[in-house]
Amino acid sequence: MLPKVKKKILKLKESSTLKINEKSKELILKGKKVFQFGFGQSPFPVPQEIVETLKENAYRKEYLPIQGLFDLRKKISKYLFKNTGINYPKENILITPGSKEAMLLIHLAFNGEIILPAPSWVSYEPQAEIGSNKVHWLETSMVNNWFPTAKELEKKINSIGRKKNIILILNSPNNPSGAVCNNLKELAKIAYKYKILILSDEIYTDLTFTNEYNSISKYYPEFTFITGGLSKWCGAGGWRLGFLAVPKKLTEFLKSLKSLASESYSTVNTPTQFAAVKAYEEDHKDYKYKVRSILKAVGNYVYKNLKSNKILINPPQGAFYLMPEFKNSKYKTSTKLCEAILKETGVAMLPGTDFGFKPKRMLARLSYTDFNGAEFYKNVSRDNFIGEKMIKRYAPNVVEGVSRLSNWAKKL
Ligand SMILES: Cc1ncc(COP(=O)(O)O)c(C=O)c1O
Repeated sequence: MLPKVKKKILKLKESSTLKINEKSKELILKGKKVFQFGFGQSPFPVPQEIVETLKENAYRKEYLPIQGLFDLRKKISKYLFKNTGINYPKENILITPGSKEAMLLIHLAFNGEIILPAPSWVSYEPQAEIGSNKVHWLETSMVNNWFPTAKELEKKINSIGRKKNIILILNSPNNPSGAVCNNLKELAKIAYKYKILILSDEIYTDLTFTNEYNSISKYYPEFTFITGGLSKWCGAGGWRLGFLAVPKKLTEFLKSLKSLASESYSTVNTPTQFAAVKAYEEDHKDYKYKVRSILKAVGNYVYKNLKSNKILINPPQGAFYLMPEFKNSKYKTSTKLCEAILKETGVAMLPGTDFGFKPKRMLARLSYTDFNGAEFYKNVSRDNFIGEKMIKRYAPNVVEGVSRLSNWAKKL
């Protein structure tokens, strides 16, 4: 008898991200230059003092409590209070192996409907499917900075049915658009009116270029979950340390999440939790400032050099992504568009379909992190102005890739 896989798991589609990565590898093997604008990874090293703390704690081998190290939860609770003014007590914080796992646990525990604004990060939809929760896409527009308006959200809730259990997932700064949501208050009002739940994915919030930590929890703490972690601001994606803050009222939900954690990963590795205490007990102001300044300068360079009558694009506001839209494109789908761009210019990007857009929308996600972050970081000081000269010196692949892309688009 052949082993059987559940239908819903078999149905999980292979993302075009994988296809683009495969094609990139093929080109590299053939000796071609590929501009890696498809990756979503911080190029910067983890702050040295946090690395040192990890080393000092490497000898620890005992299991920690399921919910996570007491001291770490206390520090995260303080960090959230400082940034949002909302009290998520340490009892309501769960340390998870990356924030992705935290979101999966929510989907496993929750029984209801999920509203996903398009664009949304690639993993939200498959996670909802794993949890057997139905996804309702809410397409956004460039005019509203790629976030839903309050009216659109209300309409969507009504079309699903007011009596249904609903979670809206919001991510700002956003992967893939690089945009910051500036109508959180209006969205919160609608969420409050219909008592829906919100999952606020704040993995990039420390990388907001204006240095404002905006969270919808400020306006709707009652039912807002927050996820975050070390992967993006701290450059430690591979350390797998995330957290989930659960609203005070949702005690049953919290209890279920703890059971799920206990029956799956048990607890996050011990040395990393100790290192994370260091990450959350200090501001790391200089590090964050320099990282944000570099990303902002490089992002603006890309924006200015791509914007044309053939490429529509909004200025970068956070994280390390931009989402260009190609006009007059002769391609049938955004996947075909990205494949052609890769073949003809060597620039690898991810197609808009991966982020919830209809295949015909000629959108792509461009990640502007194809540079040596350690080298760039070392050569920038707090009062350095990061101009074109520095960008050309420390991010030559970005400069060359953008030039090829812009020339390619002129022929459209
Ligand atoms: C929008 C978004 N949310 C969450 C994650 C997951 O991050 P973590 O490493 O904490 O699991 C990512 C990582 O790419 C992301 O882009």
